[in-house]
Amino acid sequence: MAESNHMTGRRILLGVTGGIAAYKTAELVRQFKRAGAEVRVVMTPDAGRFVTPLTLGTLSENEVHVKIFLENKAGSWTKHVALGLWADLFLVAPLTAQTLSKLVDGACDSMLTAVALTARCPIMVCPAMDHDMYIHPAVRSNLNTLTERGVTVMEAEHGELASGLIGQGRLPAPEAIFEYASALLIRLAKQRGGPLAGKRVVVTAGPTRERIDPVRFISNHSTGTMGFELARAAARRGADVVLVAGPVSLETPEGVRRVDVESTDDMHRAVMSQHDVDIVIMSAAVTDFTPAQPSDSKLKKEGADGALELARTTDILADLGSGKKDGQTFVGFALETDNGLENARGKLERKNLDWIVLNNPKEDGAGFGTGTNRVTLLARDGRTVDLPLLPKAEVAEAILELAVLNKALEDLDPLA
Ligand code: CTP
Repeated sequence: MAESNHMTGRRILLGVTGGIAAYKTAELVRQFKRAGAEVRVVMTPDAGRFVTPLTLGTLSENEVHVKIFLENKAGSWTKHVALGLWADLFLVAPLTAQTLSKLVDGACDSMLTAVALTARCPIMVCPAMDHDMYIHPAVRSNLNTLTERGVTVMEAEHGELASGLIGQGRLPAPEAIFEYASALLIRLAKQRGGPLAGKRVVVTAGPTRERIDPVRFISNHSTGTMGFELARAAARRGADVVLVAGPVSLETPEGVRRVDVESTDDMHRAVMSQHDVDIVIMSAAVTDFTPAQPSDSKLKKEGADGALELARTTDILADLGSGKKDGQTFVGFALETDNGLENARGKLERKNLDWIVLNNPKEDGAGFGTGTNRVTLLARDGRTVDLPLLPKAEVAEAILELAVLNKALEDLDPLA
């Protein structure tokens, strides 16, 4: 699964229609889930004869949608719009001749066909049927029409068919569909314009949480705002962005793939599992200490002496920095109350960074929980750039321009 890391955080809407090959979609859902994608499923009513909504709902860990109208469920009819907006890819597999003709005609008689009309994301279809149907001029013409409309058609395979005949019409294996969908999403990301088109960016944001017992944890005041703005700014410049977020309550920026994590270990794993990364921006306020012995049951006050033995968490950025490859850009953050420049430069060297963003939580309008920040950027080559107090969204824009795109301060639009 060479492309699997490109699926992290992707939102895949799988449309299943009523053909015998529908049974293969159970494995397809697992492939996407294993690769870290979020999966939702829509089925035509007939698809349920071949694979049950319960199976696909269990595997996808999401409710499966079949009907447009659900009795006694207010607001359910707008789901087709919500699903279409939610998805990064609408993948219809298997696609029967019947649903194919409905897609061509713009029919809207089930949740699946309604979603096809409202989806703003790319659509990929995997037609599967008996050989004679597959080569029929009506089916070929319908597939051509979809292709002309920008739908990606993955042609069926040649092989043994359910009818006992041999010919083209078989649904490809789940692994093959998965790889095809991955390659499609990568190609589309590269086609997006912008100075960072084709670049893979990992941004971390928010705090991490270290568990003391089932009800208590160690963490900090980070809200994640700075990291989310950085992810947004990178996506706007065309990058393929994975945002690894600690526990925060923020909306995922448009076009950004998000992975939610809780502990430092989770964040470490999520970051290290990304491959072919060009740029890492580590803005998370990683918790530096973790209880040496987290407890599975709630600790009682009685009998405790109040001391909690702590151990250091993994330094994610230092681990990344030690394996840094040519052409990669690593940006770290330093939150310092004293000797800021000296400490930040020390971290930049120790963690093998290209840039470090220094801020002081004691300054008015800087640090956690404010909408603004006042930062100084330090480069590996010795440059120091002081930015004025700015809204975090503008700080993010400036960091992208200066540290990632290597522009000079004079070339930026006037800062407040
Ligand atoms: N960082 C990290 N993993 C950690 C701690 C920090 O990846 N376990 C990253 C932060 O996301 C930040 C940078 O390292 O980009 C600097 O973090 P900071 O906590 O300020 O530095 P430390 O090296 O932990 O030093 P100290 O807490 O002693 O100031």
